[in-house]
Amino acid sequence: MRLRSRPADLATTVGSVSLKNPVMTASGTCGLGVELDAYMPLRELGAVVVKSLAAFEWAGNPQPRLHPTASGMLNAVGLQGPGVEQWIAHDLPQLREVGATVVCSIWGFGVQDYIDAAQMLASVKDQIAALEINLSCPNLKAAVVGENKPHAMFAHDAGLAAQIVDVARVSGLPLWAKLSPNTDRIGEVAEACIDAGAQALTLVNTSLGMIIDTTTGRPALGNGGGGLSGRAVHPIAVRAVSDISSRLPGVPIVGVGGVTNGLEALEMMMAGASAVQVGTASFAEPRAAHRIAGELCKWAERHKISSWSEVIGLSHRGGFRDSGK
Ligand SMILES: Cc1cc2nc3c(=O)[nH]c(=O)nc-3n(C[C@H](O)[C@H](O)[C@H](O)COP(=O)(O)O)c2cc1C
Repeated sequence: MRLRSRPADLATTVGSVSLKNPVMTASGTCGLGVELDAYMPLRELGAVVVKSLAAFEWAGNPQPRLHPTASGMLNAVGLQGPGVEQWIAHDLPQLREVGATVVCSIWGFGVQDYIDAAQMLASVKDQIAALEINLSCPNLKAAVVGENKPHAMFAHDAGLAAQIVDVARVSGLPLWAKLSPNTDRIGEVAEACIDAGAQALTLVNTSLGMIIDTTTGRPALGNGGGGLSGRAVHPIAVRAVSDISSRLPGVPIVGVGGVTNGLEALEMMMAGASAVQVGTASFAEPRAAHRIAGELCKWAERHKISSWSEVIGLSHRGGFRDSGK
């Protein structure tokens, strides 16, 4: 299926970034480059968000790293990757060649790692639409911050999250801060990230979880715990989008968590997201993001939506009421 160019404007914006349509892939679930172009034309997606990269090559966590759950999956991949330099040399050119809009994601153990990764990306900033800063991976045992002070997750600390956003400005790219659902301080952290220079917030990363293998009596994943994703977390993500949209009106939000069809994408937008990302659904169906973009756009056509602004944050404005949509 090709995505049609009607309704008139399927495009959306996330801060200063224009996207062809509101559906992107989610970091870590669709590879580093053009792996999924064989299944769907990546150029037709809003954007391809690549797996979080560090300034260095990283092996990730011990196996096993993935386990299915009743309505999703648990992962503890632990950010395995080739590092920014390799990605710039091998994957970015291929993504450019297929015409994809590219959002790069970075991670690190400490502030200096984020500075290094952001600096490396500054050299290719004309080829990247935005930089998503992963502040919220649940699968790193202990990041080491400042004077060797261990810290589990940057997105659970407003000061640290802001510090990392601030240093990432060296990339010269629009910054999206990706936050964690595993804290009651998400509002405070979101505000700090915006004050520090983030243009948008990506909500949310995985929820902390664990599976015990009852035959061994031990955790099923090599890392012990992991991050829960997929349908099970969809309402958690919608809630985070809605809460932050109320708290920070006008701040662009990218919604991610359990989006499996066009209506679930729409739900995110009605909660306040300007765009959505599709992650776990892609494992069962590699072209899920493209299908979901098609479903979302068809819905908009059927409901005579001429601009996504009619939909974004609708739940905060009393819904459709008697508009006839
Ligand atoms: C196997 C796997 C790897 C992931 N790796 C990353 C990553 O590298 N960086 C990141 O920001 N999020 C990562 N995530 C989180 C997803 O981008 C997304 O926030 C989360 O899975 C919720 O969306 P979903 O339910 O559509 O998968 C990963 C998720 C999964 C399942």
